[in-house]
Amino acid sequence: MQKSITRLVVCVLLVFATASMSSAASMQPSLYDRLGGLTAIKAVVDQFVANVGADQKINKFFTATVADPQRLATFKMNLVNQICQGTGGPCKYTGKSMKDAHKGMGITDADFNALVGDLVAALNKFKVSAQNQKDLLALLGPMKGDIVGQ
Ligand code: HEM
Repeated sequence: MQKSITRLVVCVLLVFATASMSSAASMQPSLYDRLGGLTAIKAVVDQFVANVGADQKINKFFTATVADPQRLATFKMNLVNQICQGTGGPCKYTGKSMKDAHKGMGITDADFNALVGDLVAALNKFKVSAQNQKDLLALLGPMKGDIVGQ
């Protein structure tokens, strides 16, 4: 009798242990947390915008942006909030829709790819893992249709 109670207790404990292990595995932290939160996102955006500004393939689009410090700061803030919100962070993006923001710019596929390259270079500089990069690009990729050819 004593033995079978012990066995039962062991079984119940095993079931609980297995259940809590599998729920811990499925409760992955948000991409926002995996990236390192707001400080990390701000650092990546700063580097990303610096890369874009130095990228002769596309920096003509940003001449007016970089010439005006206030406009540049607002642009960066919008990018930070957009990434923060999109990755599950506590921010709210208050900028324009991607369609409105890029209307009339005549952005091509090649321009879009160049900008993504500048973002990847920034992510690499901060040693963001391949999985986190993939997850971030999966978030931004679907915006392409609202940005290219508007
Ligand atoms: C996934 C790709 C992209 C994202 C997530 C993105 C995001 C944004 C955001 C959040 C804004 C600010 C909107 C606002 O002012 O309310 C913006 C503005 C702008 N974007 Fe993009 N964009 C992307 C691709 C591109 C590309 C490929 C180009 C050109 C090569 C481009 C050029 C611009 C320019 C020139 C502005 C205006 C900046 C200013 O206010 O001076 N964007 N974009």
